[in-house]
Amino acid sequence: MKGKRILLGICGGIAAYKIPLLIRELKKKGADVKCIMTDASSDFVSPLTLATLSHNPVSKDFWNKETGVWANHVELALWADLFVIAPLTASSLGKMANGISDNFLIATYLSAKCPIIAAPAMDLDMYAHPTTSRNLETIKRDGVFVIPAESGELASGLVGQGRMAEPETILDCIEGVFEEKQDYKGRKVLITAGPTYESIDPVRFIGNHSTGKMGYALASELLSRGAEVLLVSGPVKIHLEHDNLKIIAVQSADDMLLAVQKNWKNYQIGIFSAAVADFRPAEPAEQKIKKSIDTLSIELIKNPDILEWAGKQKTEHQLLVGFALETSDVEKYAKEKLLRKNLDYIVMNTLEDEGAGFGHDTNRIAILDKHNKIIKFELKSKQKVAVDIVNTISLKKNELF
Ligand code: PMT
Repeated sequence: MKGKRILLGICGGIAAYKIPLLIRELKKKGADVKCIMTDASSDFVSPLTLATLSHNPVSKDFWNKETGVWANHVELALWADLFVIAPLTASSLGKMANGISDNFLIATYLSAKCPIIAAPAMDLDMYAHPTTSRNLETIKRDGVFVIPAESGELASGLVGQGRMAEPETILDCIEGVFEEKQDYKGRKVLITAGPTYESIDPVRFIGNHSTGKMGYALASELLSRGAEVLLVSGPVKIHLEHDNLKIIAVQSADDMLLAVQKNWKNYQIGIFSAAVADFRPAEPAEQKIKKSIDTLSIELIKNPDILEWAGKQKTEHQLLVGFALETSDVEKYAKEKLLRKNLDYIVMNTLEDEGAGFGHDTNRIAILDKHNKIIKFELKSKQKVAVDIVNTISLKKNELF
């Protein structure tokens, strides 16, 4: 928590009186805290209390009415590592869900790029109202993490769900955001990466431009999140070491198939990012082919489809992710591969996109699931692409095992 910049948005509900306790705990843990208040919240907690405890001025208005200086909500939103809105009232919730930017807090919310946590608080009938449920669903879909209101005695004297979560619960969630994720601890993941080389003779081969960067980035991300990884890797120049990493180095598609066949049943997740040669010379020459001839024809035969094999063996407790690299109509071909190879997800990338595919440090992907849902991502580093892939399948994995 030390040095983390936490922005607190306080709305006008009785639970605002608990926010000074939260600020005190955050400050004890070394966080840098700034507060934004709505007009109504200052009826419940004083700006002076918040400013004194946070050691920072409190923001409320778009501009300072005495000096005429504009308060920059965009800068404040970008300053924050985390934005916590607590208590979140029905009114501010409605504004968040609908983008009604008529106060400084909501304008900052709409500008924020950091994770956002909201702790709603309202009377039980307000909390149970379908409008509230709908608005909560909307902000959740927009990426806000909502800490459900707790049950208990309410300011109205009624008893039911609507109390803001206690400051300790909010603190736990805040700490959770900054903890290193270990969501793959105890999970076993098999990854294929890199190209395969298919021998023509002892010195020549048929290969492709895969460098293994994508597959190794996936392995690194999974290892950092606690997974045990088996990397079945074609010939690459990348070096990766980790206590939880086992590498089987292979050359050809046949070697890769053998390694996968030996191990797949012991792994829960398979991510097949290798660029496997689809064909290989039917009969590699035993001696170096001499260049005394002017033309050379090589008969090629089809390689086994390793991913298709794994898809056929897949049990209901295994999760399988393939890649589709295309030069056109990527969605059409990816859908066909997802079905034929019995995949849960397919990661699409196309050589039509600049900076995507083989060799680059960047990639641009879209992930298609077996329900035909597509999530599209921007061009970004292969490390960040790996985070997107690992995050996407993380939700599904929790359902399966
Ligand atoms: O290694 P980099 O330089 O970082 O490049 C990354 C990448 C472009 C290689 C990677 O992002 C990628 O797209 N990998 C899949 C490449 C590919 O061969 O796609 P495909 O559409 O031909 O194959 C579909 C899927 O079947 C893939 O998961 C592939 O691993 C698998 N396959 C294909 C053929 C085969 N014989 N066996 C397989 O397992």
